Amino acid sequence: MRAPRAIAVCLPITIAALSVCLGRALAQNATTPSTVSQDSIKIGIVIPMTGTSGAVGREISDATKLYMAQHGDTVAGKKIELLIRDDQSVPDNAKRLAQELIVNDKVSFLGAGLTPSAMSMAPMATEAKVPTVVMVSGTSVVVDRSPYYVRTSFTLGQQSGIIADWAIKNGSRKAVAILSDWAPGAEAGKVFEQNFTKGGGQVLETLKVPLANPDFSPFLQRARDLVPDTLFVFVPAGQAGTFARQFSERGLDKSGIKLIGPGDITDDDDLPTTGDALVGVVTAGMYSAVHPSQLNKDYAAAYKKATGHRANFISVGGYDGMNLIYQALKITDGNTDADTMIGTMKGMKWESPRGPISIDPRTRDIVQNIYIRKVEKVGGEPWAIEFETFPAVKDPLKEAAAN
Ligand code: PHB
Repeated sequence: MRAPRAIAVCLPITIAALSVCLGRALAQNATTPSTVSQDSIKIGIVIPMTGTSGAVGREISDATKLYMAQHGDTVAGKKIELLIRDDQSVPDNAKRLAQELIVNDKVSFLGAGLTPSAMSMAPMATEAKVPTVVMVSGTSVVVDRSPYYVRTSFTLGQQSGIIADWAIKNGSRKAVAILSDWAPGAEAGKVFEQNFTKGGGQVLETLKVPLANPDFSPFLQRARDLVPDTLFVFVPAGQAGTFARQFSERGLDKSGIKLIGPGDITDDDDLPTTGDALVGVVTAGMYSAVHPSQLNKDYAAAYKKATGHRANFISVGGYDGMNLIYQALKITDGNTDADTMIGTMKGMKWESPRGPISIDPRTRDIVQNIYIRKVEKVGGEPWAIEFETFPAVKDPLKEAAAN
């Protein structure tokens, strides 16, 4: 009579959640009596480990493993297990993998990656009540998709408004926007244009570049033909190297047009391969591998030693995501109840390699410093050198919606 009892406890919920609930109920029945002793706590992270966004998955995987290597694999007397799953940037895969992690592996936490995947996992996290740390997505709306979502990455709006204001202050008036054609690109463009036009500037044209295997050349040519004084560009992690090459091949690095953007175009993972193409470029970002704090010096050195790569802005989303889970578990003494967990995470503050950060208790979104940085060569390699700090920046789209 196991199955009918499992169905009965699952009935008051939607069909989408039925399979999740059934899996859990059946698994519990199989190990009756029902209090399953939880000696280990599993964290299941769904990220692209292969394909065009494979670098993103590598960075999150490396950073979360580094965190565990440094902080141990036991919290509040419980062993922590990390399960990493490759969604190949396909939202349907992310949904299926999240379901398997919940039902089969019985994870207590999920980690979410790219925006489309994080969106598709949200109903699972909600129905099964699994606290989920958004470690990559930079789209404002994602965290609203589930009451169990908390973000440790960034939003494009946090950076794009600040760089628009900086550009106006420094004489820019006519801009062209080149944006990767998906949700984070749309948000970057929206907030940039709002602030740029408010300051008296004009966006001459917005050019949208396909996300997969992008060829920037025709868009760069079109941008140049419009004779702007400024080019605002958003490309996601993994594409800055290609962009920089095509930018300099077209001679745009010597054209006098100022290149600006959120931090993604000066991704530390790509900068070492960009030669002189991005030298002088100014961006507003939340992390630079040369952020001058002792904590970051130690983080960047340990990351480089463990992986052979520079730490970058994606990696800190994973590293801080693990810290959020570890610190919250310490406070709850290992209690993983979703509402208790989310309640504990709201308002948490700590020092990240990127600087001081916190979780906004109202929105569950990240509050962090945004730095204005200029690419300069130091020791023969380009780095994003911070020269101005905007402290404790919230996501402007959420703030605007609340007012
Ligand atoms: C996202 O998934 O929203 C995303 C990913 C990589 C970026 C920016 C945004 O560089």
